[in-house]
Amino acid sequence: MKEWLIFIGGLIVLGVVAMGVSFNLDGKPSVTEPIAFNHQKHGAFLQCTGCHTTVATSAAATIPNKDFCWTCHQNKVTDSPEAAKIKTYVDEGRQIPWIRLFAVNDDIVYTHQPHIAAGFQCQTCHGDIGQADGVVTGFGKKGAGGLYGRDLMRFCLDCHEDNKASTDCYTCHK
Ligand code: HEC
Ligand code: HEC
Ligand code: HEC
Ligand code: HEC
Ligand code: HEC
Repeated sequence: MKEWLIFIGGLIVLGVVAMGVSFNLDGKPSVTEPIAFNHQKHGAFLQCTGCHTTVATSAAATIPNKDFCWTCHQNKVTDSPEAAKIKTYVDEGRQIPWIRLFAVNDDIVYTHQPHIAAGFQCQTCHGDIGQADGVVTGFGKKGAGGLYGRDLMRFCLDCHEDNKASTDCYTCHK
């Protein structure tokens, strides 16, 4: 009996690790990205909008992928073995399978554009990711980050109430 439980437990752990998600001691999932991207080191020469190019104009911010990285990394700009992985993706013609840290469920409406236009800083919702050189905790879909469900809604609603933005259910729920 005990062996079976250990076996099944092992399968679950393997499954979770295969998805790139593991759990810290406090139960919060942490994420292992396919490349250990370092925001801090790029912040010296690129602004947030230099990479997340549509954040001020669209719903989604977008995350850059191999072709963008390659514009610089085809030259040897660093000795980091993590950066060397970019070449593998380029050679194999595959996109880098970034794991999303910040994501809301598919039935939620969220658009960046009005929030950026209202003057909110990225940090208000994303914390100090620009200074991050390691694991970052996001929010959203279960298993991908920190907040989800009612706790995440509270996060949205608190600011909507403070700023007299809409709190009508159908503003955010489809
Ligand atoms: C050189 C390009 C680059 C710059 C500059 C950059 N980012 Fe990123 N950003 C990335 C990449 C690549 C990822 C995906 C890897 C990761 O999550 O670490 C990412 C991930 C993120 C995410 C998580 C998205 C998700 O849901 O997984 C947020 C939020 C973010 N960046 C915000 C910022 C902010 C704020 C700044 C400016 C302070 C910034 N980024 C500057 C490339 C960049
Ligand atoms: C505008 C040029 C430029 C672009 C675009 C760029 N990088 Fe870099 N990257 C650099 C430079 C320069 C360094 C070295 C920085 C340093 O050592 O301080 C670097 C360093 C790195 C490192 C090593 C970080 C470390 O911890 O030492 C990784 C990994 C990396 N980049 C991944 C990426 C990925 C992934 C992308 C695409 C999403 C990307 N870079 C896009 C210029 C760029
Ligand atoms: C009012 C809160 C808020 C602010 C301010 C904000 N974001 Fe976001 N961001 C979110 C939410 C919510 C998501 C998840 C959206 C989804 O799943 O569709 C997200 C997702 C992202 C993502 C992941 C993928 C994507 O394409 O959208 C990136 C990258 C990102 N934000 C970057 C930024 C940057 C850069 C800034 C500042 C210029 C910024 N965000 C400002 C709330 C915010
Ligand atoms: C830091 C404050 C803040 C946070 C956090 C925030 N919002 Fe907002 N949101 C606003 C403000 C202010 C407006 C009104 C902007 C305007 O009137 O142009 C708004 C507007 C909106 C709109 C309406 C956009 C439109 O087209 O008129 C939606 C949808 C929305 N927010 C969804 C969300 C969701 C979902 C979350 C949480 C994941 C969230 N917001 C978190 C401040 C915030
Ligand atoms: C400002 C945006 C916003 C408004 C307004 C809002 N919600 Fe939400 N709600 C969310 C977000 C974001 C989530 C979390 C979705 C996720 O986990 O990705 C959520 C989650 C929920 C959940 C939990 C679903 C789950 O999967 O756990 C319920 C139930 C809910 N909302 C009901 C309501 C009702 C009823 C109203 C109107 C009185 C309302 N919401 C208004 C943003 C909002």
